[in-house]
Amino acid sequence: MADKSMEGLNTFTDQSAGPAIDTSKKVRYGIIGCGWIADAHVKALLNQPDAEIVACADIVPGRADEFLKRNGIADKGIKTNYASHKEMLDDESLKLDAVSICTYNCQHAEPAIYALNKGVHVLLEKPFTVTLDEAVEVMKAEKASGKVLSIGFQPRMDANMQQIKKICESGVLGNIYYIQTGGGRRRGIPTPHGTSFIEKDTAGVGALGDIGCYSLDMVLNAIGYPKPLTVSGYKSDFFGKDPNYSGYKKGKGEEYAKLFGVDDFAAAFIRLEGGIVLDFRIAWAMNLDTPGDTIIMGTKGSLRIPSTECWNGTVGGAMKLYHEVAGLQTETEIPIIHKDSKLFDLKLRTFLDACKNGTPAPVPTSQIIYNQAIIDGIAKSAEAGREVEIVIPEI
Ligand SMILES: NC(=O)c1ccc[n+]([C@@H]2O[C@H](COP(=O)([O-])OP(=O)(O)OC[C@H]3O[C@@H](n4cnc5c(N)ncnc54)[C@H](O)[C@@H]3O)[C@@H](O)[C@H]2O)c1
Repeated sequence: MADKSMEGLNTFTDQSAGPAIDTSKKVRYGIIGCGWIADAHVKALLNQPDAEIVACADIVPGRADEFLKRNGIADKGIKTNYASHKEMLDDESLKLDAVSICTYNCQHAEPAIYALNKGVHVLLEKPFTVTLDEAVEVMKAEKASGKVLSIGFQPRMDANMQQIKKICESGVLGNIYYIQTGGGRRRGIPTPHGTSFIEKDTAGVGALGDIGCYSLDMVLNAIGYPKPLTVSGYKSDFFGKDPNYSGYKKGKGEEYAKLFGVDDFAAAFIRLEGGIVLDFRIAWAMNLDTPGDTIIMGTKGSLRIPSTECWNGTVGGAMKLYHEVAGLQTETEIPIIHKDSKLFDLKLRTFLDACKNGTPAPVPTSQIIYNQAIIDGIAKSAEAGREVEIVIPEI
């Protein structure tokens, strides 16, 4: 059905409803890390009739209480008196079933392992971890626990992202041999809520992991996550280290430039199993509007996905399929799908369903380990100044 309100755009509205939710058992839920993204988790959880938030923890004193207040749930008896994830997970009176881990990147692996060892299901924010070694350790704990571990890639729930995968799987592109992906912002080093994204000790990785993981997931998920084999990577920090960078808040340039300990741009050439090459670039800051559209080239057709900042699961405009029809070179516009769905609600909903039904994680680590291996490989290759082999240990 065409959406008449979107004049000039080729669009499609999907209004399919989901299945009924069994509310006879409530999932007892905890939040670890009460910063900016935890708000989105709580808002989505409050929309789930079978989830009950029972506790939240933050290492900064008072932050968990502030978090409950700003989300309007300070009077719901939710426990907050925990100095870190450990004290909350050790509190057996909570009878926790599941947690969202919303801590900064360098505090993903440790709380995830601790929660899994306690027999609690985990929804872990993206990126999976900072290093491949950490991701492997988390997966070992996941395997030993038998619990659900899902990684927070909500763009997966977007109908347009799902359409990209359907197009790749349909065969219209033939054999896929070359992919270009990435995205970026002109002035978008994330410092609106402090410096946890730019300090080495908290973020561990910059644009490469923060938004790079989304671009990688968009294309790798579409083509079935082939194994990465080698990578030649580059990263830089020219904008972040500049006290005169115009994206920093007034008066904060000197301080932030000194604290900046990660990358603000990364690029790489990655070889994947199946003879596919992946050309990647990502920027928190650059003197350019976009580092290019995502393109997926195949022997029968190619798909162009207009560039976005690659963080919220939308495409930057109608996609285009380049192919031949009865010998004629043809371009087909793929309509944008407008689905009345909230991505965070779907992220929490699909996770809760997996916890309750014992079904696989909606965004499984068996795939995201390849995403993390590429990020890790780019960082290592950039530091070594040469191509490196990607070696993923058996888990
Ligand atoms: N999926 C998305 O759309 C999305 C968007 C933004 C951020 N994120 C991810 O979410 C994570 C958090 O981002 P943010 O913007 O909320 O950061 P933030 O710095 O605002 O919040 C992180 C919070 O975790 C707390 N914390 C750290 N270690 C802890 C521990 N061991 N136990 C308890 N609390 C701890 C910190 O004190 C802080 O309050 C990052 O990994 C980021 O990449 C995801």
